[in-house]
Amino acid sequence: MNLLVIGSGGREHAICQKLLHSRGVTNVFCAPGNDGMAQSGINCIAIPETDAKALIQFAQKEDISYTIVGPEIPLLEGIVDEFENAGLLAFGPSKKAALIEGSKDYAKQFMKKYQIPTAKSETFTDYNKAKAYLDEKGVPIVIKADGLAAGKGVAVAMTMPEATLALKEMMLQKRFGEASEKVVIEEFLEGEEFSLMAFVNGDEVYPMAIAKDHKRAYDGDKGPNTGGMGAYSPVSSISSAIEKEAIETILIPTAKGMKIEGRPFRGVLYAGLIATESGPKVIEFNARFGDPETQVVLPRLESDFAALILALLHNEKPDVRFQKEGLNLGVVLAAKGYPDAYEKGHILTGLEQISPEIGIYHAGTKRDEASNFISNGGRVLLLETSGATMKEARLHLYEEMKKLDNPDFFYRIDIGLKAE
Ligand code: AMP
Ligand code: GLY
Repeated sequence: MNLLVIGSGGREHAICQKLLHSRGVTNVFCAPGNDGMAQSGINCIAIPETDAKALIQFAQKEDISYTIVGPEIPLLEGIVDEFENAGLLAFGPSKKAALIEGSKDYAKQFMKKYQIPTAKSETFTDYNKAKAYLDEKGVPIVIKADGLAAGKGVAVAMTMPEATLALKEMMLQKRFGEASEKVVIEEFLEGEEFSLMAFVNGDEVYPMAIAKDHKRAYDGDKGPNTGGMGAYSPVSSISSAIEKEAIETILIPTAKGMKIEGRPFRGVLYAGLIATESGPKVIEFNARFGDPETQVVLPRLESDFAALILALLHNEKPDVRFQKEGLNLGVVLAAKGYPDAYEKGHILTGLEQISPEIGIYHAGTKRDEASNFISNGGRVLLLETSGATMKEARLHLYEEMKKLDNPDFFYRIDIGLKAE
């Protein structure tokens, strides 16, 4: 099989890598990919992730067996529908089904209707009404832009001035453009967060190993929210009873509900969850693989990845098996300043010294004219390793991260620390 992956981040690097190691796979193409992927035998194609027409032409010309769509933007634009209309197989939700990620307001309404546990909330398009609700509810409180904001459209406000500022920025100053014309204001939930992804085909749900993301930019969960600064899988502090409850009360009813709504979901459903005192509750849904969760979850997949996706696309039962022993840990190297303004074009020193057994997933990197790897994004790359214990994995991985130390970049030193 020749396969195509759409996207250019660490998540897509991990997806491509796993496909390359699957049986019966000849070529893996990634559009647009990045120069780091090209180094590991992935064929990068210079087509933007949202250029559906050019991607379809490419898939037809190269006899692509199927395409996997990584990022949310092409999914929300309906790229899977376009591939299907052209008679091509593509793994990912339709435009209609991807709305569960594209609109937080839609996701909340859907969860209310199907009694899927989540924080209580109200949606507003009028600033004064939103402000009045805020004053009535008080803090702590959570304010979310309705639309996509690259993981940054959420303010968890502990004080009233913070809450008011966030609301003003979103609704009056349109900080996230159209995405924040509508806001969801929701109850603050307390508990441990975890990510539960599943392969979904209509009402069939095949859960993956659970993972833990680290969303805040700095150590000790301080600083602004980012796309994710590191992750590990599985999560020993979340019991299998909670995991089971989350599958039964959240994932399965969501898949069933989407089918009833005429938005049947085929792809990866990602539930961002909080284990509260009254059980797991949803903080967000994504309609795709998580980043950086994928970089620590996919290495744990024991069954054949390419065959698993093909089975789902053919409406057959896939073989989904994850390793039970040990854990995988990943730490992101980010550009100084991320998630706010940051510079690109800094040379990545030490990359050639990374030990061969470490997974290197490139995200924002490219090669300069002298063939050096330079930074080309906020999240630059992720290093990943497995270990029998968290202590062992952390020791090993942070020895490697040190090789990348450089004042132009930063990384959190406490990924997985609480799980030691
Ligand atoms: P999201 O982009 O919706 O995943 O939100 C980003 C982060 O904000 C989450 O990872 C949580 O840490 C936090 N968060 C979101 N919603 C809530 C909530 N209702 N209660 C407490 N924290 C939340
Ligand atoms: N790591 C969170 C996300 O992929 O949205």
